[in-house]
This record gives sequence, structure tokens and C-alpha cells, in this order.
Amino acid sequence: MAISNPSSKTAELLALEREYCSFGDTVHYLEPPKVFVNCEGSFLYDETGTPYLDLQMWYSAASFGYKNPRLNAALKRQLDRLPQLACQYLHAEKVEVAARIAQYCARRFGVKGRVHFNVGGSQAIEDSLKLVRNYTGKNLMFAFMGGYHGRTLGASAITSSYRYRRRYGHFGDRAHFVFYPYCFRCMYGLKRDSCELYCEKQFEKLFDSEYHSVWDPKAQSSEFAAFYFEALQGTGGYIIPPREYFVRLREFCNQHNILLVDDEIQMGFYRTGKFWAVENLGITPDIIVFGKALTNGLNPLSGIWAREELITPELFPPGSTHSTFSSNTLGTAVALETLKMLEEEDYEKLVNEKGAYLLAGLRELQRRHPGIIGQVDGLGMALRIEVSKGDSVTPDRELTDRIFAGGLKGDLEAGGRKYGLVLDVGGYYKNVFTLSPSFTITREEMDLGIELLDQLFRRCRAV
Ligand SMILES: Cc1ncc(COP(=O)(O)O)c(C=O)c1O
Repeated sequence: MAISNPSSKTAELLALEREYCSFGDTVHYLEPPKVFVNCEGSFLYDETGTPYLDLQMWYSAASFGYKNPRLNAALKRQLDRLPQLACQYLHAEKVEVAARIAQYCARRFGVKGRVHFNVGGSQAIEDSLKLVRNYTGKNLMFAFMGGYHGRTLGASAITSSYRYRRRYGHFGDRAHFVFYPYCFRCMYGLKRDSCELYCEKQFEKLFDSEYHSVWDPKAQSSEFAAFYFEALQGTGGYIIPPREYFVRLREFCNQHNILLVDDEIQMGFYRTGKFWAVENLGITPDIIVFGKALTNGLNPLSGIWAREELITPELFPPGSTHSTFSSNTLGTAVALETLKMLEEEDYEKLVNEKGAYLLAGLRELQRRHPGIIGQVDGLGMALRIEVSKGDSVTPDRELTDRIFAGGLKGDLEAGGRKYGLVLDVGGYYKNVFTLSPSFTITREEMDLGIELLDQLFRRCRAV
């Protein structure tokens, strides 16, 4: 989709944006921000028609590929049938999506539950906070350092980054943040093969004495209601935790009446090779929060699944939460099609096979850039590249930024064609490329991704 005079059109757009758009939501991580005009499959296109291979797919919101024909068709059908309906009325797709998710959880975890909808991920997090407060009568939460749960006020209070809270005053219900088992950069400088999960034991120590501030041994009661976690930290840098950590945590939280709330907003719906990422950890959470990929980035839909006991209509009655657009007909129609698609094809196999292929490519890339790529790893199609300063350890944020910006220039070359590369930067030190490619990506496209990454590492290291 080329236009005759790309630079003047873009210049005009950017000038208007600079004057009239809040930077608070559009971020401006790159100056000037990049403009795209089209998308298809694994690619975004700029105004000159240059394809940009997208290895992050809208932070995993468009997991099933841009313009996925089946999901787009579901949206179009609903657009012609029942595109609008106030939430207090029922429509079939809402009920069917809820039933399918609840039935899946019943099969997988052996637990009866219910599903509740909202629009964005943070809103669903807010709803889950209400659910927890309502059930426990408590308002304090544990959450992990490196965790990200959104930027509405309640969600910000359990999101670890101080940068996201700093300007907005005191958050009375700010979570108590706990070290995540980030074994590559162990907070205690230990090694996984000999640590015996020291970090988990440190968490348990909080409950040793009432003077550690969270536990009343006489009443056998904690001041904390729930522990929020991501089974694989997204924004934190696609950190894959040891399964045993969470097995122990689940047991400990059970013993201390602390609910486990699993944020699957970024990792749910097969990103890690399982329907829910938490299935990799072998535990059952009390609440699951989901969003993003359920509608492949089309009309947004988020929600929560919770154990019956927590969400029973007597305890969580009509009106407990509300948003005009929650359970919207367009979103639920796409969500239903997504769930049908997931049932019809073996996504566990597909995602694990493609993820293994790409991870092998990343390992080769690491061999070509020793010390600069400190670690590569992956679970399903959630993959990570740690960029370091030649010693495999010290984070190199500057190089990461240069590679990120370099990919968006759109001047890489492969097979006689110009390409760009769309990456996402995460991690505690902003030195991790968090890769979440489309599930529809082909082997040739993955090879192309490795080739473009290699070019970028070569070019940007040389600066
Ligand atoms: C794990 C996780 N939780 C919550 C959110 C917030 O979702 P939203 O941006 O839709 O509000 C995100 C978004 O990136 C996320 O990755």
C-alpha cells in the first residue's frame, strides 16, 4: 500500500499528533513514533509498502496472526447480525464463551467455576481485586517484583514498577512485592541446582513471627488476601520460573488462606504451549484473569474465571462490577470462534514445535554473538533474548534500544528485499527482547527473523 509522497503525509500526521495527542497513552518510546498503514499474517507494512516482520504481535494480543481470516469473518458476521447490545441482556456468544472456558477449567483443574467479562486487561484485574476483597474482607495483596498487571489505579498498586506509580501519590493498597524466581539473575546470587528454592523459603519466613508483619499466629490469619502472579512474567522479560517454586507456594498459600490469582492476560491461550500458562506449573489457581489474544486484538474482551465459592451469585451479586462494553457482542463472537479454533486444532503441538524451531535459531544466534547474547530461552512461543555487555551477564540496555530502533528503520535486506523488524523490549533492566510471534508464522519467516536479528546485532554492535 504505497502512497505517492510518503514523507510529507507522515510529517503531517506526526505534526498533528505532537500538537493534539496526549503522550501519556501513546508512549513515545521511539522518536518520532513509527506509523504503519497495513498488516497481514506476521507482517506490518509502512506507507512505502515495506514489510516489517513482527516478532511480538501486539504483546501477544494478535497471537493468531494479523487479519486472521477465520476470526475476521466471525467479527464481520456479528457486525451484520447483532453488533450492539447492552450488557444487561443476554446473547448466545457471551454464554457460550463463558461455558467453554468454565468447562475447560473444570476438565483441566477439576474445579467448578464461573466466568465474568470486562473489556481491557486492567479492568479485569480491577474486577478480580474486588472479587478477592469481597470474599476475604481484606485489601492487601502480595505480588511479584517484575510483575505487570496493568495501569489503572488498582492494577498499578500491584504492578511492581515504581515508575508507573511515582507521579500519582500514595497507593494505600500497594502490594507487598516479593522476589520472582528469576534464576538467570538470582536475587541471592545462588544457582538453581543448589539453591533449594531459597527465595521461596524467604517468603515463607514472613510468616515465622507476628513481628515479620504479615501473620497473626494466634488467629492463624494473614493481613494479606491474595498473591498475584504471572506464570511466566511478560513485561518482566519472559522469565520462566522453576515449576517447584509454584508447587511449594501453592501449598503454603493453601495453609495460610491466601488466594492465588493467576494473571494470564499476556500468556493465556497457548502462548506458552498450554491453554493457560499456569498448566506448565502443575498448580490450580483460585482465580484466572485473561484478555488480549482471546479476540486476536479485534474487539477487546477480558475477563476472569473464579472458583464457584468466590464468585457465587449470592456472594458476588449483579452490579458488583460494570463497564458499558463488557461482554460486547463483537468481542464475544470473535472469542467464541477463537475457542472453537483452539478445540479443533492441536495448538499444544503446533506452538511447541514452532517455538522449539525458533529457539534453536536463537541458540545459533547466541553462538554467533557470544557474551552479547547472555541467555536465550523459551516456553512454547514465548521466547527471550537477554542482551549483555560482552560478559553474558551485565545488561546492555543501550544496545537493546539501538537494535529495537534499528528494526523499525525498515532498511534491512534479505533475499533482495527490504525489511523491518518489530521487537518488544522488556525485563527488569530493559535489556530483554520478549518474542511472541504469530502462531501462524512459517519456518521461512522464522528463518527470516533470525537473519534480520543477526543483521541488527552486527550493525548495532559496531556503533
Ligand atoms: C500480564 C498482564 N497483565 C495485565 C495487563 C494489562 O492489560 P491491558 O493493557 O489490556 O489493560 C497486561 C498488558 O500488557 C499484561 O501483560
